[in-house]
Amino acid sequence: LEAIMPRFTRSTIPVLLRLDARAREPLFRQIDTQLREAMLSGRLRPGTALPSTRLLAAELGVSRNTVRQAFDQLIAEGFIESEIGAGTRVAAGFALQQPGAVREPTRPRRGPPRAPVSRLTRRLAEVKLPQSPRAARPIDGAFRLGLPALDRFPVETWARLAGRRWRRATASQLDYGDPQGERILREALAAHLGRTRGVSCDADQVLVVSGSQGALDLIARVLLEPGSKAWVEDPGYYGALGPVLTSGTRMVPVPIDDEGLDLAYARRVAPDARAVFVTPSHQFPLGVTMSLGRRLELLEWAGRGDAWVVEDDYDSEFRYDARPLTALQGLDGGQRVIYVGTLSKTLCPSLRIGYIVLPRPLVESFVRARRFVDTHPPTIHQLVAADFITEGHYGRHLRRMRSLYRERQDALVRALRSARGSRWRVSPSGAGMHLVAWLPPGADEAQLVDTAAREGVSALGLAMFRSRSTGPPGLVLGYGSVRASRMADAIEALDRAMDACGITGVPDAAPRAARGRSRTGAVRGRRTRKG
Ligand SMILES: Cc1ncc(COP(=O)(O)O)c(C=O)c1O
Repeated sequence: LEAIMPRFTRSTIPVLLRLDARAREPLFRQIDTQLREAMLSGRLRPGTALPSTRLLAAELGVSRNTVRQAFDQLIAEGFIESEIGAGTRVAAGFALQQPGAVREPTRPRRGPPRAPVSRLTRRLAEVKLPQSPRAARPIDGAFRLGLPALDRFPVETWARLAGRRWRRATASQLDYGDPQGERILREALAAHLGRTRGVSCDADQVLVVSGSQGALDLIARVLLEPGSKAWVEDPGYYGALGPVLTSGTRMVPVPIDDEGLDLAYARRVAPDARAVFVTPSHQFPLGVTMSLGRRLELLEWAGRGDAWVVEDDYDSEFRYDARPLTALQGLDGGQRVIYVGTLSKTLCPSLRIGYIVLPRPLVESFVRARRFVDTHPPTIHQLVAADFITEGHYGRHLRRMRSLYRERQDALVRALRSARGSRWRVSPSGAGMHLVAWLPPGADEAQLVDTAAREGVSALGLAMFRSRSTGPPGLVLGYGSVRASRMADAIEALDRAMDACGITGVPDAAPRAARGRSRTGAVRGRRTRKG
């Protein structure tokens, strides 16, 4: 080709252009695309004369109009130039290509991009991201984790409030907003959290973010130094902690016992940790509530060592057995605890509205960092959320959802207990939207999860959430989006999957928490694996 360029003659036409009359792509588009590709790859150089439309049409066996259409497009895009008397040429100023370089036409590559990304970003590929396999012919949302009852989202009310907000939107609400979040939402959240969660704060300490995920990302940016250590729960939700891992922080997995995070272990293994990430109200995924003694001990440790306690309060609005427990933040009086909450479980995950309640001295740094990340969540959504809370819809929705989830949990526990062969052991949980169903010793969680997906049920094995701890096998079952009337069908499907996997026997007595031992050391994440 080097030898025949830059002349583009009758003999080179079949080399450069191959048309397929049966293709769905129109002929003029095929000519235009192939010529463009030849120019981009350097096979047709700037200044090369193109054959006349008459010659090209005759050679290709198409109408002259078809060729003209292709040329017109290339002229409009500046690839070729046409002058009366001088014919049509590849544009002289067209020099995207290194001189002389002949590039292969670009083809989509398979696999990860070759472009270098940072070392820290490469670590994201190692974070376990617990994602249930999508079930074929799913039975409701059985048993997707963290998914609320989306069919009960108050669409009408939300649409009415949103319509009102949009119709009355002022110029300043369409402009950039406050990076800390809209004041009326911060006020509504502060009042709600004080009333329902015992969080002690005012609107100045609240920062509105894009879900808990946005909160954890910001916390990692603002507070964590590369190489510093942070205690994390094991088992725990490492997906949420991806940003922490990529900040270069060394995560130290700490086992969970019946009182919550095993502090004695943590203090022994990494007394110099700078932060701890906990779900004290309803440990994810085991469901343990951190005892008062443990809470006070944790706060005492944080206060003494100037460490931060990050409290992820993701689902504690749904407490059935008593009034929701006071948040750790309320016990601490806003000194060392950074409280993280979200509307993802109480309303729906696509809203991407979460919040952080900060100790006062941290507010300015967080707001400043926020400005450089995503500035703020959409203002009108924030205003609608504020109206939803202050006008009482949120409280009503939470009450309805609380009794709905309780009903769904009861139905799930009944279905598991009456399942064939009593192969399941389960401890009902006083809160939330998921349960751990324990399996007989030796059961292969991963195989069961894959088989269950074919039977219409998504679930995740407990191992997916473990870092170093060990313990009996089990499935983590999210029941928030499964109607009570479908629960027996969903458990039957799981039972069929158990049969197919040859899982027999009965589990050991349901442990309240995984009592597995944890080996010493920091974790840098594990390769993602289908659980
Ligand atoms: C324990 C825990 N924290 C955080 C999140 C993330 O929630 P968000 O949608 O607010 O980012 C989840 C999601 O399932 C979760 O289970």
